[in-house]
Amino acid sequence: MNQETDRLSTLAGDDNWQPDSWQSREATQQAIYPDEAELQAALQELAGLPPLVTSWEILSLKEQIAQAQAGKRFFLQGGDCAESFAECNSDVITNRLKVLLQMSLALTHGLQKPVIRVGRFAGQYAKPRSSDVETRDGVTLPSYRGDLVNSVEFSAEARRPDPKRLIQGHASSSMTMNFVRALVDGGFADLHHPEYWNLSWVQHSPLADEFQRLADSLGRAVNFMETISGRRAGALKRVDFYTSHEALHLHYEQAGTRKVPRQTGWFDLTTHFPWIGMRTADIDGAHVEYFRGIRNPVGIKVGPAASAQQVQRLLEILNPQDEPGRVVLIHRMGASEIESKLPPLIKAVQDAGSPVLWVCDPMHGNTETTSTGIKTRRFRNIMNEMETAIELHHQLGSHLGGAHLELTGENVTECTGGARNLVESDLKRAYKSIVDPRLNYEQALELSMLIVSKFEKLD
Ligand code: PEP
Ligand code: CO
Repeated sequence: MNQETDRLSTLAGDDNWQPDSWQSREATQQAIYPDEAELQAALQELAGLPPLVTSWEILSLKEQIAQAQAGKRFFLQGGDCAESFAECNSDVITNRLKVLLQMSLALTHGLQKPVIRVGRFAGQYAKPRSSDVETRDGVTLPSYRGDLVNSVEFSAEARRPDPKRLIQGHASSSMTMNFVRALVDGGFADLHHPEYWNLSWVQHSPLADEFQRLADSLGRAVNFMETISGRRAGALKRVDFYTSHEALHLHYEQAGTRKVPRQTGWFDLTTHFPWIGMRTADIDGAHVEYFRGIRNPVGIKVGPAASAQQVQRLLEILNPQDEPGRVVLIHRMGASEIESKLPPLIKAVQDAGSPVLWVCDPMHGNTETTSTGIKTRRFRNIMNEMETAIELHHQLGSHLGGAHLELTGENVTECTGGARNLVESDLKRAYKSIVDPRLNYEQALELSMLIVSKFEKLD
């Protein structure tokens, strides 16, 4: 089919997309299950379980993304590189929520616009890997592909892809969602009480005073509004939280793809905001085919190898009707490449005339390995990439509308630098990530303050 007929058939709604039509394309980065019957049984069970999110939440997120495209909101997406079943517990979930709330408070206050909060959680359990296998001391086993597929320990039993993990993934996602919803609905995210979000170890942080000033000033603003309007700021009391994950494991996503009464089309009800990773964004590949047919807003990671034509083609395929709020492009170039690689893509999107929300992921282009073999990222590089992104979009008449970060509320030492100036020898002290190094609470909060000050300095 040529491009034009392809586009027209999508517009007419008569193309032959189905939740399983991705299976006719090449699907990279998929688990290889030793027992097909076991896989099919798990998928059947999964397809009968209740969804994790609803279509109206998905559509309200889409509307908010459309507003962010128009510059009226800022998009903050953050969480673990890889969630683990073992860390599906109260402390980890609460602390992660606290960081995201505090960052969004700093951003709302500094940018003077509402923040869309999107967790990389409640389903971030599948990981792309550079190799299908891993060899240690002469022993070769399947690579760890995330808790949805196998277990991180290096043994034949642990690394065997196990379809029962798909059911566990759904269960852990739903427990996480349930707790987040309960916290948020119960007033945990109430702007009158930012003290609920304080993490205990932060009292000793170099940033504690600055954050306290911010929280006090926001508290005064809320009180002022209530005084002049004569009523409690109900709308401020409730904050929305959305979920996202890399929709890598297509059998899992397919099982959660449903039709909904009184809505047209299909929704991926495993999450509000699925994204396509950089390694699986091939225009002819299975992931793009799957994403084409769902009505969720979708993210696409674009790295230094992405060409202007590829990005334009992705927009044609994924958003043929130029629907606002549908596409978020998440660029992750690396501090050293962003200046040369991003401008042609910004121009390509402007030429295409299709609405896009640009988000910067300053993490994945800045990963490095220390001489002792530890994966890390330097805060300085992360910050540089973020600041350069804000600047480049501004110079080219575009605008950066969000940040995509790997972070945790735990007091980890995985990235170097930041206000406490962590150095390489600190890394082993509290390194917990099972895949990529995350910003700890302080580094995450510092980054949000730096984002604000960069926007303030734009002319
Ligand atoms: C990720 O977000 O964890 C990831 C693997 O990113 P990317 O697809 O950009 O490499
Ligand atoms: Co990662």
